[in-house]
Amino acid sequence: MNIMAIVLAAGQGKRMKSKLYKVLHPVCGKPMVGHVADVLDAIGVSKKVFVVGHGAEAVQSYLGDRGQYVLQEQQLGTGHAAKQAEDILGGEQGITLVVCGDTPLFTKQSLEAMIALHKETGAAATLFSAELGNPHGYGRVIRDASGAVTGIVEQKDCTPEQTRIREVNAGTYCFDNAKLFAALAKVTNQNAQGEYYLTDVIGILKQEGETVQAYCTDQPEETIGVNDRVALAEAERIMRQRIVHSLLVEGVTFIDPASSYIEADVKIGSDTVIWPGTVVRGKTVIGEDCVIGPNTEITNSVIGDGVSIKQSVLSEAEVGPESTVGPFAYLRPGAKLGRGVKIGDFVEIKNAVLDEGTKVSHLSYVGDAKVGKNVNIGCGAITVNYDGFNKHITEIGDDAFVGSNVNLIAPVRVGRGAYVVAGSTINKDVPEDDLAIARERQTNKTGYAVKIRQKFAAMKKNN
Ligand code: UD1
Ligand code: CA
Repeated sequence: MNIMAIVLAAGQGKRMKSKLYKVLHPVCGKPMVGHVADVLDAIGVSKKVFVVGHGAEAVQSYLGDRGQYVLQEQQLGTGHAAKQAEDILGGEQGITLVVCGDTPLFTKQSLEAMIALHKETGAAATLFSAELGNPHGYGRVIRDASGAVTGIVEQKDCTPEQTRIREVNAGTYCFDNAKLFAALAKVTNQNAQGEYYLTDVIGILKQEGETVQAYCTDQPEETIGVNDRVALAEAERIMRQRIVHSLLVEGVTFIDPASSYIEADVKIGSDTVIWPGTVVRGKTVIGEDCVIGPNTEITNSVIGDGVSIKQSVLSEAEVGPESTVGPFAYLRPGAKLGRGVKIGDFVEIKNAVLDEGTKVSHLSYVGDAKVGKNVNIGCGAITVNYDGFNKHITEIGDDAFVGSNVNLIAPVRVGRGAYVVAGSTINKDVPEDDLAIARERQTNKTGYAVKIRQKFAAMKKNN
C-alpha cells in the first residue's frame, strides 16, 4: 500500500531557549528532524512532506531534496500544520503517517508495528501511545468502558481525573489519507490554547463511526518529544546507548560504554576496542582490529584496519591500515596516511599525504606536503609552508631522511633517497641521493669553558 508522511516541523520551540530552531537541535550529532527523515526512509515511504515555518530556510537547506515542503506561515497548531500538506497529498490514496520533527527516537520496528495494526483492523486512524510514569505535558488517550479509544485530550484541557491517565499520545499517527483531510476540515480552535489540534481528528473520526486504534508500545522511551533541554539531554542519552549497544552487538568492544560518545552515522568494524573518553563524530568510518583512545576525538575521518590511535584529535583525515597515531597527535583536514605510517607525540599533520612506512615520530609540523614511502622525519623537523601570504608545497621522495630540527622552507623538494643533515634550514631543492647540510660550521675553543667559569665566579664575589 502507498505510504506517505507529513512531518510537522514549523514550531519555534520556545522552551528550548535557543537561537537554533528546535528540530535542528542535534541528537548524537544529527538534527532531530534528520533522525525522523531517516526512519521514514527506512520504512520506505513514497512521499515526505515537511511542514516548515520558523526557520523554514534553515530546515529546508538542511534537508535538501529529501522531501517536499509546505510553509505554515503562522503556527496555529498541529492540526493547522498537517492541513498545509493537503495541496500535495489531498488527491492521494493510501496511508499517511503524521510525525513530529521533535520526536527523534522512533524506530523502524515500532512504526511498522503501528502500520501493521492499522492495516489489520482497517482503522481510519491509529495513534502511537505509551504508558508513562510521568505523563505530564502530553496529550492523554481517552478510552471508553470497553477499552476502545475515543479521543485525545491535551494536558491543558484535561479534567483533574483525566490528568491521572498515564497512557499518552506520542504525536505519531497513521491515517487513511482521505479521511485525515476530511476530518481536519472539521477541527476548530475551541480549547485551552486556542489552537487547531491534530489530536481532535481522533475524536472526530470516532464520532463518525470510524475505527480508531492506539498502538501502545512496550518501548515508551521511543516516544520522547523534545520540548526543552532536559528532554534533549534524555534523548541524547537514550540514542547514545542505542548506538553503542548496536556496535557491541556487531562485535566492537567498549571498555566503558557510558564514557564513549559515538555519533549516529559512525561505522566501526569488529574487534575494534574503544577506550574511555573517545568521541567519534560525523561520517567517520573505523576499520576492524583498531585500538582507539583513551581520550581521542575523531571527526569525519576514515581509519583503516589494525590502526592504533591514542590521546589524539583527528578531523577529515585518512589513516591507512596498520598505522599508529599519538599519543598527542593532531591530524587536520587533508592528512592522508598510507599503510603502516607512524605519527608520534606532538606531531601535527595538515593537508599532507604520507606514503607507506613513513615515520614522523616526535614534535613535527608537516603541512601542505607530499611525502613518499619509508621517509624518516626527525624530531622537531618542520615544513615552513606559509610566508605570510601564500601556502607552499614541500615534496619529499621515497626513502629520504630528514634529520632532527630541519626547516624545509617551501616550495622545496627533497629528492628520493636524499639525506638532510640535522639542524639544516633548507630553501633549495635537494637532488636524489644527495646529502644537504645548511648550517653554520662549528668552532671549538680549547679550554674556554674553564675561563668562562672563572670569570663568572669573580663577578659574583665582587657583587
Ligand atoms: C503534541 C500533541 C500531544 C502529544 C505530543 C507528543 C497536539 C495538539 N498535541 O503536543 O498530544 O502528546 O505532541 O510529543 O498535537 N508544530 C507545527 N506547527 C504548529 C504547531 C506545532 O509544525 O502550528 C510542530 C512542532 O514544530 C513540533 C510538533 O508540531 O515538531 C509538535 O508540536 P508541539 O508544540 O511540540 O506539541 P506538543 O505540545 O508537544
Ligand atoms: Ca512536542
